[in-house]
Amino acid sequence: MEKYDVLIIGAGLAGLYTASLLPKEKKVLVVCKDIPWECNTFYAQGGMVTALNEADIASHVEDTLKAGSFHNNRKVVEILSKTSLETTADIIAKGMQFDTDAEGNLLYTKEAAHSTERIIHAGGDATGRYMHYFMMLQNKHQLQKNTLVYDLLIEQGRCYGVKASVNYEPTTIYADEVIIASGGIGSLYAYNTNSRTVSADIHGICVEKGIALADMEFMQFHPTVFVDTPYARKLLLTEALRGEGAYVVDDEGRRFLFDYDERGELASRDIVSRGIFDYKRKTGKQAYLDFSMFEEGFFKERFPNITRTFETLGYDFPQDKVPISPAFHYANGGIKCDENGTILGMKGLYVIGEAACTGVHGANRLASNSLLESVVFAKRMVAHLLNKVYEVLETPVFEKDYANILHKENDKIYKEALRKVMWEDIGIIRTTKGLHEAKNLIYDMKNKEIGRLLALRLHTASAIVDAALTRTESLGSHYIES
Ligand code: SIN
Repeated sequence: MEKYDVLIIGAGLAGLYTASLLPKEKKVLVVCKDIPWECNTFYAQGGMVTALNEADIASHVEDTLKAGSFHNNRKVVEILSKTSLETTADIIAKGMQFDTDAEGNLLYTKEAAHSTERIIHAGGDATGRYMHYFMMLQNKHQLQKNTLVYDLLIEQGRCYGVKASVNYEPTTIYADEVIIASGGIGSLYAYNTNSRTVSADIHGICVEKGIALADMEFMQFHPTVFVDTPYARKLLLTEALRGEGAYVVDDEGRRFLFDYDERGELASRDIVSRGIFDYKRKTGKQAYLDFSMFEEGFFKERFPNITRTFETLGYDFPQDKVPISPAFHYANGGIKCDENGTILGMKGLYVIGEAACTGVHGANRLASNSLLESVVFAKRMVAHLLNKVYEVLETPVFEKDYANILHKENDKIYKEALRKVMWEDIGIIRTTKGLHEAKNLIYDMKNKEIGRLLALRLHTASAIVDAALTRTESLGSHYIES
């Protein structure tokens, strides 16, 4: 039987950084569902947080806790911030080029709810793309695309590998250690900024296997997204735009976010998203991102990716303002694990990156903590994995029961209905009535003739709605209207 030492599910930053830290001698396989750059890392614009120095750690920790409504695990937040000094240094030492001034000093930007400029960026507003490309170049292990994982091989609390469709062929992949780095749940929502590959499959498998998810009521909505496109992935307008001085205005040019929080555009993401959503709903007015205060040369150099993308849609920045809406962006909750990525009660299975819930983000993630989270917890997980005492494993042979049909005829219709109800009833502003209606609809869909992948999405959707119903008081990104 062919077997890998380590199987990594996902080729975003968490998966690739893990691979870069695993020795060449290990037999490692990185798999991704589609092409490697179809991942959330690739679409990350603003940047990666790093504590500026030892003295900045306390402030970064405080900002993270405050944004997370103090629902975070403080110990894990401290690990995140302290370790950022070494992971950032490691990535730069390996050759990653973040933006610098003419003297070669790193340029730091600010995003909402940060008390200082501590976000490094690359390619202006293409940090994720640059980091992903860099990590792809660093990767010395086998990377296999078109590999859609639809089951975990688990027996008596140990994971032995996965079942996957590889180039549409059902396959069993065995490994001593399986690392989940598959990202979040974006495709569940009608409006989202995520890669189309991020569709909650592995979360759904975990629900099925009794592996705990945590903090699933805390879904994060990015405030400034252009949603008027026919594609599933909506266009993000990075928070760094507001960090550098862009305004959110209504049809009359009024900066209405000050009605909601004295920090206006720079309040934490949950507050800004809710403010925009509520103002539009209440007044019937449109909300816009206004860049007219920027000098043209500066804007185009600092935000080249956004300038080009919106040029193709007919916008001329910085003169034109652009209509915005919040959209689903990031899962604060996920597969429950400790600060080393281990899952309670499971051997041979780890989780890192957006898929994981270490408790670092609390009820609402602080902007640009996600790329940092990916590298910090990948590093800790690899250290844990390489230091543990290896048991000699008798790998059971798993039946090739490929009876599960991945897709069925009407899945598309149900998927659209799910995306709509997630957006409308398990979105930015929730009501108990709406949550109960969503729960019933999800339950009904589960009992239809559906394919396995949709069933997995529905398991994850159930976990979200159940968590939202359990938390009867608003907190952070979970907001219940009475
Ligand atoms: C952004 O650039 O606004 C997104 C950054 C993040 O999600 O933290």
